[in-house]
Amino acid sequence: MKTAIVFYSLSGNSRYAAEKMGLRLHADLIPLTPKKAYPDSGFKKFFWGGKSALMGDKPQLESYDFDQSAYDTIILGGPVWAGTFPPPLRTFVEDNRAVLGEKRLAAFFCCSGGPGKVLEKFKAFLAPGRLQHEMILIDPKDKPSDETESRIDTFCDGLL
Ligand SMILES: Cc1cc2nc3c(=O)[nH]c(=O)nc-3n(C[C@H](O)[C@H](O)[C@H](O)COP(=O)(O)O)c2cc1C
Repeated sequence: MKTAIVFYSLSGNSRYAAEKMGLRLHADLIPLTPKKAYPDSGFKKFFWGGKSALMGDKPQLESYDFDQSAYDTIILGGPVWAGTFPPPLRTFVEDNRAVLGEKRLAAFFCCSGGPGKVLEKFKAFLAPGRLQHEMILIDPKDKPSDETESRIDTFCDGLL
């Protein structure tokens, strides 16, 4: 059985972490792509993304390849937006809630230094007690550091 890393990334930090974990865990990567892309620069980037996260939006996603029976572990990840998890992850969890209930679950979130209550919010959304491993990273692509690399390694080791 395998691990799937299901993630959303607007500017590449979550993708960076997902790719690194993918290599270490021999996991499949499943990127989520909203049908209507979020703005990725300027004021609009923070305004629309932040508003969408705070409103609890569930944006429609481009179809993705997720062979539910192939995985025993699912890692869910993405950026912190306005102190919470990003809307594409909300859509994915809602659309796959039943099957996620049968899997070992882990999550990671990338932020620029203020994670807020993202883990508490995500855990409550998933269902209390479901998340077995968790990690917060600070802009792993934009602000690389040895500490970040070792946190990713430790997170992966906990899943082996
Ligand atoms: C709409 C929006 C809201 C954000 N809100 C937060 C926040 O509340 N706290 C924080 O530390 N970083 C926040 N950030 C920064 C991102 O979480 C951070 O840069 C993250 O590493 C980006 O991941 P990505 O490159 O995978 O999209 C926000 C970024 C955007 C675009």
